[in-house]
Amino acid sequence: MKELIFENGDKLDAIGLGTWKSDPGEVGEAVKAALKTGYRHIDCAAIYGNESEIGQAFTEVFNNGTISRDNIWITSKLWNNAHQKQDVIPALKKTLSDLQLDYLDLYLMHWPIAFQPEIDTFPEDAGGFKPLSEVPIIETWEAMLEAKSQHLVRHVGVSNFSIPKLDDLISKTDDPPEMNQVELHPFLQQADLLHFCRNNDIHVTAYSPLGSGDRGKAFKADDEPSLLDNKVINDLADKHHATPAQILIAWSVKRGTGVIPKSTNPGRIKENLESADVSLDGDDMNAIAELDKHYRYIDGRFFELEDNSYDNVFDD
Ligand code: A2P
Repeated sequence: MKELIFENGDKLDAIGLGTWKSDPGEVGEAVKAALKTGYRHIDCAAIYGNESEIGQAFTEVFNNGTISRDNIWITSKLWNNAHQKQDVIPALKKTLSDLQLDYLDLYLMHWPIAFQPEIDTFPEDAGGFKPLSEVPIIETWEAMLEAKSQHLVRHVGVSNFSIPKLDDLISKTDDPPEMNQVELHPFLQQADLLHFCRNNDIHVTAYSPLGSGDRGKAFKADDEPSLLDNKVINDLADKHHATPAQILIAWSVKRGTGVIPKSTNPGRIKENLESADVSLDGDDMNAIAELDKHYRYIDGRFFELEDNSYDNVFDD
């Protein structure tokens, strides 16, 4: 398995299990199946609403002695309603308590967007947002660094940050993010962002690598293109005696990023990890490069209300 190596020598398996949209009642079994089949990287977030079930699964697995906590990489994310400096560590402690852990390997600021503290999920109107002029990203970031210095997390990073937002944060801190987790797949290749992150020693993790077809209707366009049905991807699957999902995951691994396909199906969980055995060549990568159309499945428009201060979340 390819690994991402951090400055202190810590290593992260490139392929991890995504848990966004993994339903309560299923996610615990999915995490156990993943750990049993060899995953050592699990991606979580407070807003996914399933961390307590994942925590029970971790405890069961650790208690039966097959895998120890320090052999697994666990990521979680700070939700938008806890960006004020006094709210960051309490939010992290809630996640740690839900996940039944003493520390996280990686804690990410989920979005460069702030909500009022009482908004647990999504605001219904502009009043639920807090402008970044009131809660600057650097304030939230410094509280995350404090969590790191308290050994509650080993690494800190961000998610959904564009080049200008990373650039701005880097200019204001001596401890820049170690990770940026963003949507990345053949229809949204973001070569500039990847290049910027590489030049600034920021690792990248690809979310929605399979196109996140199981998103709720509110987050979905009617006419969106399908990665899994794409002809080039399917031809490459035939060539490599692999599945389309494995080609998509192998593409991310080949680009040197982490990748967190979500599944709650034991067969597909295993299939996705076995993408590590699929090796794409230069011709394959060139064919996939042609598919780029800067298409976002998660377009961020749900954060852009007429009278709030957020516009063009991704600076596209
Ligand atoms: P399921 O959980 O039933 O396996 P993403 O990781 O881009 O968010 O995509 C997740 C979606 O892709 C889910 O609907 C998931 O369904 C499905 N999926 C996961 N692995 C595979 C696979 N190997 N082949 C086809 N679909 C998959």
